[in-house]
Amino acid sequence: MVLLSSSILAADFANLLDDILNAERAGVDMLHIDIMDGHFVPNLSFGIPVIESIVGKSALPFDVHLMVDNPDEYINDLVRLGVKNITVHAESCIHLDRMINRIKESGVRASIALNPSTPLTVLDYVVELCDMVLVMTVNPGFGGQKLIPYTLDKVADLRALRENKGLNFLIQVDGGIDTQNVQKVIEAGADVIVAGTCIFKSDDMARTVELLKGRGAV
Ligand code: DX5
Ligand code: ZN
Repeated sequence: MVLLSSSILAADFANLLDDILNAERAGVDMLHIDIMDGHFVPNLSFGIPVIESIVGKSALPFDVHLMVDNPDEYINDLVRLGVKNITVHAESCIHLDRMINRIKESGVRASIALNPSTPLTVLDYVVELCDMVLVMTVNPGFGGQKLIPYTLDKVADLRALRENKGLNFLIQVDGGIDTQNVQKVIEAGADVIVAGTCIFKSDDMARTVELLKGRGAV
């Protein structure tokens, strides 16, 4: 079964909780929470206080995507808030092995994200540790971008790598996914689809979620 994680970056921040509850009612499986620090990516989103204000108000699991230079600084707070999954970028972790182990030892699921240009080889020795791998299908930093086609080759390669190694980590795909291309993304090998703009800027969120979960349509 393919899971749908809605990126709240595209929500209306003036009505954040309403948007989250609407997404929950529409049937999304997770909340994808994009933390950006203005350094690792050229944009700022929100930090721990905003997450703290929504924790406990939605029953959905919190899936946190850290696009920051120093992910270390966020782990304790995210663990305290009870998030389900923490994703760190391979490009921002000098001690990736230590970071993944630290997250898992805290009882939280741990994932590694890769920018579009980052090869899968960075995972060679650590993929066994991962609960999930996040393949970025846009350059991180902004919602509403267009999916970069070659990144779907990477998704397919990752799927093959998982099979060859006999592993069972999830493959999450994030950026530019909509009702038109979701089928292709799933065919490439995605287990977890992230969608922001397509869900939160939709005129009919329930219908859009239904379409995404039903693998899209015209
Ligand atoms: C991009 C973020 C994505 C983004 C997805 O830096 O990591 O999660 O919010 O949003 P859409 O679906 O609008 O590309
Ligand atoms: Zn994201």
